[in-house]
Amino acid sequence: MKVSVRVPATVANIGPGFDCLGLAIPLYNTITIEETVLPGTGVEINVLANEDVTDELSLEHIPMDENSIIYKAVELLYNSIGQSPSELKITIHSEIPIAKGLGSSAAVVVGGLLAANQLLGCPADEAALLSIATEVEGHPDNATPAIVGGLVLTSTEEDGSITYRKLPWPEEWVLTLCVPETELATEISRSVLPAEVPIGDAVFNAQRMAMFVHALHTKDDNLMKLALKDKLHQPYRMKLAPGLEKLMQNLKHEESVLGTVLSGAGPSVLVISKKNNLEKVKNIIRDTWNDLNIRVQLYNMPIEQNGAIIVSE
Ligand code: HSE
Repeated sequence: MKVSVRVPATVANIGPGFDCLGLAIPLYNTITIEETVLPGTGVEINVLANEDVTDELSLEHIPMDENSIIYKAVELLYNSIGQSPSELKITIHSEIPIAKGLGSSAAVVVGGLLAANQLLGCPADEAALLSIATEVEGHPDNATPAIVGGLVLTSTEEDGSITYRKLPWPEEWVLTLCVPETELATEISRSVLPAEVPIGDAVFNAQRMAMFVHALHTKDDNLMKLALKDKLHQPYRMKLAPGLEKLMQNLKHEESVLGTVLSGAGPSVLVISKKNNLEKVKNIIRDTWNDLNIRVQLYNMPIEQNGAIIVSE
């Protein structure tokens, strides 16, 4: 039997929501798991990457042995029903750029989990899949939208279970995602974060997070402009993510721009703006990356409202 699952890329954090906000976008990985017939062949993992988005260097971020995050996720699922994975061929068709802050590892974990769950006859429900994916990923803000789609706020409870709620997104607000040629591994981007932060900074983010949710429900441009700020991770990551600080500076006086934030752990950057003046905003974005001498791909895309789906069995 063979199962394929298509999983969207995700943008986590979105300014104030470090480790708790994320949204799905229409770029996908497809993960296929096949039970092999020969006993004793073990677990084989292959990665097929789209050259346009992923080069050989970035493929080094995906281990293909039992240290692989996909193997760990599949193993946890099997263990949860008292079994161990064996005789499986896992193929990852990667179209999500790797090490760009777009949730490529969460997509791989989620795809592996859903495909394995299907092969096993669906022993795990959504709640169990969310917990396992978060346990492997370490935080729920990529894994949750990868599973359920949309823009979600999400939290990890003390028992490891995940709570999430979908949030609305005003049609007039546009996402411009900047994916630079540079790479940044999540471990490196997390290693620069302090173990503790000043209470004033924690309060700053709590205030903005509350504003963010209210601004979405009331489509309040001005409140969203105040909300899309962060003191918990972006200031520490600026030096690793060229583009973020310059884009913030160059876009801060643009009336139609609501905010400029790091996508996940970076180095990609998300600019949120109103529909009017989009071409002017994109020109400023292009000029900024040009001045930095960094090639960049710009994507205008809607939020993907579907999470991971089984595409074939
Ligand atoms: N919230 C995570 C981070 C997302 O910012 O490190 C990256 O996987």
